[in-house]
Amino acid sequence: MAEIEAVSKGLGATNAESRLPHWDNAFEEPSQAAAILIVDALEINRRVLNAMLKTEEYRIMEATRPEEAMDILGQQSVDLVVVDLVMPGMSGPDFCRVLKADRRTHLIPILMTTGVQGTENEIAGIDSGADDFLLKPLKPALVRTRIRRMLRNKALTDSLDEAETILFALAKSVEARDNYTGLHCERLAAYSIRLGQALGVSKADQLALYRGGYLHDIGKVSIPDAILFKSGMLSNEEWLIMCQHTLRGEEICRPMKSLAPVLPIIRGHHERWNGSGYPDGLRGEEIPWLARILQVADIYDALTTARSYKPAFSHQHALDIMLEEAGRGWRDPELIPLFAEVTRPAGDPTGSPWPADGEMQNSLENMRRELTK
Ligand SMILES: [Fe+2]
Repeated sequence: MAEIEAVSKGLGATNAESRLPHWDNAFEEPSQAAAILIVDALEINRRVLNAMLKTEEYRIMEATRPEEAMDILGQQSVDLVVVDLVMPGMSGPDFCRVLKADRRTHLIPILMTTGVQGTENEIAGIDSGADDFLLKPLKPALVRTRIRRMLRNKALTDSLDEAETILFALAKSVEARDNYTGLHCERLAAYSIRLGQALGVSKADQLALYRGGYLHDIGKVSIPDAILFKSGMLSNEEWLIMCQHTLRGEEICRPMKSLAPVLPIIRGHHERWNGSGYPDGLRGEEIPWLARILQVADIYDALTTARSYKPAFSHQHALDIMLEEAGRGWRDPELIPLFAEVTRPAGDPTGSPWPADGEMQNSLENMRRELTK
């Protein structure tokens, strides 16, 4: 385990971060030649693979041990890793686990090779996160076909990942523009997942809540500043425009199929239990389940953070207001008491049940990794 940690730390954050799809480089032209990293202790094996791939236009890099491979991964963009099951120091499966547990490398496909016969080896390889497995002696045509297919999938994953990264960046810019305090999106994701887990929602729904935490207000990008930042009451006409952010947000995210489960959250997070909400005036259980969960988180965050027109309320004060609103018929009458139950502070009953921002961000990132596996 110490070896895994040491190798994982070897992935230099600064260099590796720069390989991530960012707002700045999301539209860069992909390089012509896919980069393949061969990790194998034996020179003869590396040479054989090199020879097999010579007919294709790949940029081949080689490493003899996992630590060396990590250095390369920390400095260069790699599209596919070919790794042998048996290596000195750390096994192929352990190396895979390190790559798949790190958000900077978890999307790189891994082809594991081995000369050791036995289904149990294959299972160990796949279990560790390897995307494909080939037995030696390697057959050139089979190696080329598998690698071509894996690279095609990687290109697709990259484009989806970049599109989602762009939407998340846009959502964060909306959050900043809207003068929310600190990590509003992250808190919403954390609060709504906590409530969702208490309700036993599926992993897919938890992922939708995570994404909804970021994307629910993305439609505010289309609301004019004069309305979004107006300090006084909105006129009826202005209010109707403001209400449109739910529909605009749905339109922005609709083209991405992976965001289909998030659309009902974006559209429905301002509906009210008694039908007095917007945009569709849905009532009770007509309001999508996940939208109701996110709404609880959204209101709780609005109450517990300072805004220009109010101070930050304590956890208990916020719950009291939400329970009162549930009594008025605005909120799901079962969700608010459940939220109060699952967020009961462990020690001091007047304290906050939530960790500090940094700790919450880390645990949310771990959760995201778990949900996107
Ligand atoms: Fe909203």
